[in-house]
Amino acid sequence: MSEQATNRELVAGLKSHLEETEKQVGRLEQVFKKLGKEPSATDCPAIDGIIKEAKEAVGEIDDKAVLDAAIVANSQAVEHYEIARYGTLIAWAEELGHDDVVRLLTTHLNEEKAAYTNLNTIALRKGVNRKAVA
Ligand SMILES: [Fe+2]
Repeated sequence: MSEQATNRELVAGLKSHLEETEKQVGRLEQVFKKLGKEPSATDCPAIDGIIKEAKEAVGEIDDKAVLDAAIVANSQAVEHYEIARYGTLIAWAEELGHDDVVRLLTTHLNEEKAAYTNLNTIALRKGVNRKAVA
């Protein structure tokens, strides 16, 4: 979606969070190592559904300003999902006494919350929603 966005701050925010997400892979590998487990790829129907919905919504919009607002909205849906999942995983890791895992996942949770907050700022204070309405 960063390639379709036109608002400079939105593009920068999406690209920055993509880089963060790529670094999260390394931390997740550390989590698996600490748990003595081998990571493996798996499908996530929930996130696949959010992405499918986002692609459909973005594909229907021609107006660039409305498109930016839709990209913010759909990106926030992804962040909400990630925040929910990391919150649960941290709670479970705490219960199981995996303090190292809690620290690693809390870093991810904080990155997801910051990404969400940045998107909110772009929508509400940087004019994306206002321009979409106009
Ligand atoms: Fe994220």
